[in-house]
Amino acid sequence: MKSRKYDFFKKKKLNYSELDNEIKIEIAILGGLDIFTDAHVKGVVDATAKICEEMGMEYEKMKRCVLCAYLHDVGKIHIPSEILQKNGKLTDEEFAKMKQHTEYGYDICMRYNQFRELAPIVRAHHESLDGSGYPDGLKGDEIPEEAKLIKVADVYDALTKRRQYKEGFKKSKAIDILLEDVEKGKTAPKYLYYLILNILSELESVLQEYEELIKGVNNEIEILKELEKIYKQIYDQGFTPKLAKKLSKYELESGYDMSTNANLLVIKQQKLERMQNELKDLEEEEEKLRIQAKTTEKLISDEDWIEKI
Ligand SMILES: [Fe+2]
Repeated sequence: MKSRKYDFFKKKKLNYSELDNEIKIEIAILGGLDIFTDAHVKGVVDATAKICEEMGMEYEKMKRCVLCAYLHDVGKIHIPSEILQKNGKLTDEEFAKMKQHTEYGYDICMRYNQFRELAPIVRAHHESLDGSGYPDGLKGDEIPEEAKLIKVADVYDALTKRRQYKEGFKKSKAIDILLEDVEKGKTAPKYLYYLILNILSELESVLQEYEELIKGVNNEIEILKELEKIYKQIYDQGFTPKLAKKLSKYELESGYDMSTNANLLVIKQQKLERMQNELKDLEEEEEKLRIQAKTTEKLISDEDWIEKI
């Protein structure tokens, strides 16, 4: 059963300031680590919360997953910034160093009573179901379920986030990449499926808003066309009292004064065209995501549906 009664989901988007107080207090223990203010961590927290929300997870379980999402990359504080911030591809040596953030994260969590239990999850967030991940090469059920969930959120955020050196991928493109990993037996389909469902429901509200906005611009264009007609009549027939009345009615109604901005109609028409193109893109994106949701759903085994978190 879906439930949206949780405090930190009052607003659709979850961010640090809206996070449940308990979590704030818990991560304040690690205060001073600016890793928590990093946009990627927040993105992973956000995507994790969306998956949990879509699954209708119980509050305590959700809180645990969100907390793990906050902590997942905490070990990066021990990775040199030249490696963390490198724009190009990492060398083998640098990558080996980077991989150690999972073990460092584990060690950090083990130092605190509150986080000790979460340490294996933090350690396992780069493991793959087929055993090809790191640091321990765990397989299938050896990987904590929460780590499988966070992995989906982590990869999704990394692919869609805009960086200094690259544009983020479109949502459907990122899902394609994740889906490839699911098909290769590396990533859990269930959590990807719930992520897609959440993206789709957000997209639906964006589409509705767009349709409303387009309706508004269309109305404005109709009024401007009418105004243009009146101007033409004035030009042909002279400024009769009847036309003056009509003109002031339309100008008052719309707030437009075409005598000072003759390009207004063209500008609005260009705006409409732009918006219609954007709407078309969004509708295509929605269509792709629907197909991806169906494909992913088929990859979930009967056993996978059992609640494991
Ligand atoms: Fe990581």
